[in-house]
Amino acid sequence: MEGDIIVREAKFRDVQSILRILNDDIQFGGNTLDHRIWTKTQGIMWYMRHDPETYPIYVAELDGEVIGYSAINPYRSALGFERIAENSIYVDERYRRRGVARMLVSRVLEEAKARGYRVMMATIIAHNQASINLHASLGYECMSTLIRGGMRKGQPIDLVLMKRVL
Ligand SMILES: CC(C)(COP(=O)(O)OP(=O)(O)OC[C@H]1O[C@@H](n2cnc3c(N)ncnc32)[C@H](O)[C@@H]1OP(=O)(O)O)[C@@H](O)C(=O)NCCC(=O)NCCS
Repeated sequence: MEGDIIVREAKFRDVQSILRILNDDIQFGGNTLDHRIWTKTQGIMWYMRHDPETYPIYVAELDGEVIGYSAINPYRSALGFERIAENSIYVDERYRRRGVARMLVSRVLEEAKARGYRVMMATIIAHNQASINLHASLGYECMSTLIRGGMRKGQPIDLVLMKRVL
């Protein structure tokens, strides 16, 4: 790969690149439970809900281009869940299998621990072996499979729940 990949906190100006990467997977990849592409307004609202103090977003950048992102997301709204979070991770298809996701999720785990989180969750569509392997390689353990627990395009779909104790 040309140049060095850097991982940094996302800025408002990154929303468009984040949406491009997410929407590409929604349309062509099928690894998310959302099957409608996100609008710019949805992307901005998602960004605004991620207070960098508690729910930061990180992007990987190569030669000035955002090529992937990962975020610490709220798990549940009740206060008792305040030490549990859930991560998301997406990498531009052109830059996969080069360690970008590993860099991003490692950063998320480091930052989550520094912020006092105890557990990081990942909910993964069962056919997504790439994501299951990625998370397992970073110390996530498989907790269970929710058979037909999710829906995608009106069809039930199995979900794998993984957790990483911090
Ligand atoms: C899953 C995803 C984030 C991996 O990103 P990536 O940058 O290609 O991953 P990395 O290069 O950092 O790979 C780290 C490890 O993940 C696993 N992995 C990644 N891609 C894989 C694949 N296609 N098949 C099997 N294992 C894979 C491997 O264990 C890999 O380690 P290795 O290269 O030493 O074997 C990427 O494929 C992606 O964005 N997919 C679409 C969106 C998605 O599925 N997001 C997760 C939703 S839960």
